[in-house]
Amino acid sequence: MTDERLQTFLHSFDKELPEYLRKLEKYAKETDVPIIRPQMQNLLRFLITWKKPLRILEVGTAIGFSALFMSEYAPKDCHITTIEKYEKRIPLAKENFSKAEKADIITLLEGDAADILSSLSPDEGFDLIFMDAAKGQYIHFLENIIRLLSPNGIIVSDNILQEGELLESKYAITRRNRTIHNRMREYIYALTHDDRLETIILPIADGITLSVRK
Ligand SMILES: C[S@@+](CC[C@H](N)C(=O)[O-])C[C@H]1O[C@@H](n2cnc3c(N)ncnc32)[C@H](O)[C@@H]1O
Repeated sequence: MTDERLQTFLHSFDKELPEYLRKLEKYAKETDVPIIRPQMQNLLRFLITWKKPLRILEVGTAIGFSALFMSEYAPKDCHITTIEKYEKRIPLAKENFSKAEKADIITLLEGDAADILSSLSPDEGFDLIFMDAAKGQYIHFLENIIRLLSPNGIIVSDNILQEGELLESKYAITRRNRTIHNRMREYIYALTHDDRLETIILPIADGITLSVRK
């Protein structure tokens, strides 16, 4: 069975998105804003339905699609905090939260996650942390992410295989991508070898890791 056939088959079981998210997904595609793909949508929907997180942290808002998506399946009293640094996307995300009447349950923190993560307090801890920002920076965020994770909390990291590039020898990739390549391998190693976490690597979509706090 080819991978394409398998994907088409699996895709045929995808659930319909609510109308406003379908429109937002279409807008993102038309304007080249990268947002979570159906496989990540399915995984997040499953995890959120199962774990019923009351506090979610997202690193990488873009225009708010995934934050809104998560809010659809989260418990009513769940609060989502999401971080974005790109000035052009911030007003669009805010507008999308308001239009969906979710501005009171989704807080957008504006700025670089490197600064914001270290300023957040772990008092309550986040039950689910979704990493979807610049891939080369994940390794630098990791200590803060673990610090902010509640006991039994889960870290979901997207795009860890970088379109398959991560499997290549570092000599086969361009110098520009070599740093990201090294850092992402370092990140996966850190996740899988940290005594505080149990991590599984899922070879779906562009590679996803799930890490649970022990
Ligand atoms: C893949 S997009 C996020 C997509 C979004 N999670 C969704 O599915 O709707 C990644 C976003 O992370 C933001 N980003 C990258 N590095 C960041 C950083 N260090 N701090 C804050 N935001 C960052 C980018 O500006 C970009 O909008």
